[in-house]
Parts: sequence; structure tokens; C-alpha cells
Amino acid sequence: MESIFNPVKHSGINNIIKAKDEYYYTSDGRKFIDLESGIWCASLGHNHDKINHIIKKQLDSLSHVSKRVLPSYIDLIAEKLLKITEIDGKVIFLNTGSEAIEFSMIMAKLIHKTGKLISFTDNYISAYGQATKIDEKIDIKPCLKCSKSNCDINCSAIKDKITEHSVFIFDPFCFSRMILKPPVKLIKTLETEIRKKKGIIIVDEITTGLGRTGKWFGYNHFNLKPDMVVLGKSLGNGYPVSAVIIEKTIIKEVEKTDFSYYQSHQNDPLGCKVAEAVINVLHAENLIERTHESGEVFLTFLRKDLENINGVEDIRGIGLLIGIELKKEISVEKVYQKLAEKGIIIGISLKFNMLNVIPPFTINSGLILEISKKIKESIVEVEQSYQLNKSINQNKII
Ligand SMILES: Cc1ncc(COP(=O)(O)O)c(C=O)c1O
Repeated sequence: MESIFNPVKHSGINNIIKAKDEYYYTSDGRKFIDLESGIWCASLGHNHDKINHIIKKQLDSLSHVSKRVLPSYIDLIAEKLLKITEIDGKVIFLNTGSEAIEFSMIMAKLIHKTGKLISFTDNYISAYGQATKIDEKIDIKPCLKCSKSNCDINCSAIKDKITEHSVFIFDPFCFSRMILKPPVKLIKTLETEIRKKKGIIIVDEITTGLGRTGKWFGYNHFNLKPDMVVLGKSLGNGYPVSAVIIEKTIIKEVEKTDFSYYQSHQNDPLGCKVAEAVINVLHAENLIERTHESGEVFLTFLRKDLENINGVEDIRGIGLLIGIELKKEISVEKVYQKLAEKGIIIGISLKFNMLNVIPPFTINSGLILEISKKIKESIVEVEQSYQLNKSINQNKII
């Protein structure tokens, strides 16, 4: 890899030639289980037949048009997104999650020019930065330990954070791969306060939306009514399409301004058709329910297999969004390499020493059982290698 610029820590595997369902295939005949659905995108499995069929068909008719001459069917696709998000409003289709986040915040700031932009500490929301400067962050760590039955807006964790016309944007569970679950009472208290202060709630569902958590959207776990919902990743199952679903009162406010946004691939028919196909497959294959059930099975196996493993700090998850936090002295990178040797590609966060299990929704329980055992073996092997090194070093000193 001499010429490609890929500014991430690389695994060293650079001969992937094909992907199908939950597997990657290499040019030298190996196959790997992909526990990260690409980069959390191929939630229906790589190269899903129905999605590929739609892409091929659409390529032969219409993939890209001027934004002044749209085909009528994309309006029907937007309607499908409004239906599943239960939002009365409009939809714009874009390309990446970061772009859609930026768009949602540009819209919010257009209406609430002076309102503060608020989010949770460690929420990763965009690779961009123009509109994404967060003014105020709420750290949910103390809330995760809070045992009070009610949440109070005057509690030090959230006091004075929400001001008039605040724009609150949050990712419900991902937290930069930490997989945290904000208490329902916290989200409901913030929602009430934002409504009181005439603010806007944007939910970043780029990682959590479209079934990943065992419900259609992460905000469904809080019975929350957002003003804007941002989708990406799974919406294209690997094809770059994102969307912002915008409540109608915001649309009306924006329409009072001279706002215009024109970008080469907004509302492109090909991306819209892929998004529609993804929603159809989620319905047809009953994948939301299946993800909920598989997530429970995965967590149960992992908790049982890793119960007495010293190197494991915590296991947490919701649906098929699972995190295994390792103790500081265990390197996630080493566990990653051990798993790769066993034919499994797992997600990792170096910053939080987490392993992430984010497989396609179609994964079966036989494979889950096998993976759970291999995760255990890999962590134990890394633990043992440390012990071995320690005793070698001790012998040297003696
Ligand atoms: C929670 C969250 N929001 C937004 C984004 C940005 O999406 P994209 O990488 O498609 O630009 C990501 C990407 O990982 C994400 O995890």
C-alpha cells in the first residue's frame, strides 16, 4: 500500500476482494467474519441480493439528475421515511452522515441563530466542523450511576445547560464506540426543558437507526419526539446515502428565509432507491425483531463466556450494538490481531479500550456462539502472553 492515503491505523490485511453477507474474502483464499458490518453500514449483510438488484436496475434507468428535474417516485420514498420516523414533515437525501449532520445544524441555526448548540460529552457526530462547534456538553457518566427515581433539571449534571432556543443534538447510544445508555429519565427531563425553552432536538441516528438497537430508531427507546432525525450508514447498506427528516414547523420557518442548498448528489435517484430497498428489506425480513432477539442472544453468550475473564471490565449493549470494555492493561489491538488470526474482524476503540460487536442483522445463533468463544480465547491468549512476558522478565532480573 504505497500510494493510497488511508489515515487510520490499519490491520495489515490488504487483499480483500469480495464480501457477501457477514464475510470478507481475500485473494489468497481466506475468509473473515466481519463483526463491524463494514464500518457499521452493511447492516443487511454485504452485497444483499435485493439491494444489488435495485442498484443494477436503477443504474440502467436513472442514477443522477439536476435538482431542478426530480422524478416523482422519490417523493414516495421520502414518505416511507416519514412513516417509519413518525415525523410530519419533509426529507432531504444526501450522501454521508457527516454531511447530513451539518445540514441539520445549518437548518437549526438558521432558525435559532443565538441558541446554544448542546450535545453529550463523547458523542461523535461528524467528520466535518463548519456548523458542528458544540457550545455546551453534558457528561452522562454521573447520570449512569444516579440512583434517584426522578431526574431534576436543577441537578448539577444538567443545571443551566439548556437555555432559550437551544439546539440539542445527540447520538443515543454509540458515544464514540463506548456504547452507553443514557437513563430514560435524563432524556425525558432534557426534552421537557428544551420544549419549555422553545429549542430544537436533533437525533443523530447514523449508527443507531434502522434497527441496529432492536427498535426502528434509538429515540424509540425513550419515547422521544425529535424535530429532526439524521440517518446514514445503514440507510445505504454500504452505498453512500444519508437523509435528514425534518418536522414541518422547521420547514415552514426555513421557507421564510432565502435559504438554498444545492449539492451535486442531493436527492439523487440512485441513493433514494437504495434507501427504499433497505427499508423494504427490513420490513420483509422482519429484521428489527430479529436484531432485538440476536442482540439478547449475543449478550447472553458473551456475559457467560467472559464472566471470569480478568481482562474484561464490562460488557454492555442494546440490540446488535455491543461493546466489551477491556481493562487498561489489556491491549485491544492485540485482541484484534488474535481474532483476525482466527478469521474474525472486530471493531475497536483505542481511546476507550473497547471491542465493538456490530454484525449484520442476519447473523445466526450458531455463528454467535462460535464468535463468543473465539473472543474469549483471544482475550485469554493476550492475558497469558503478558503473564509469560512478566515471568521471562522476572527470570532475567534473577
Ligand atoms: C454517531 C455518528 N454520527 C455521525 C457519523 C458521521 O457519519 P459519516 O462517517 O457517514 O460521515 C458517525 C460516523 O461514524 C457516527 O458514528
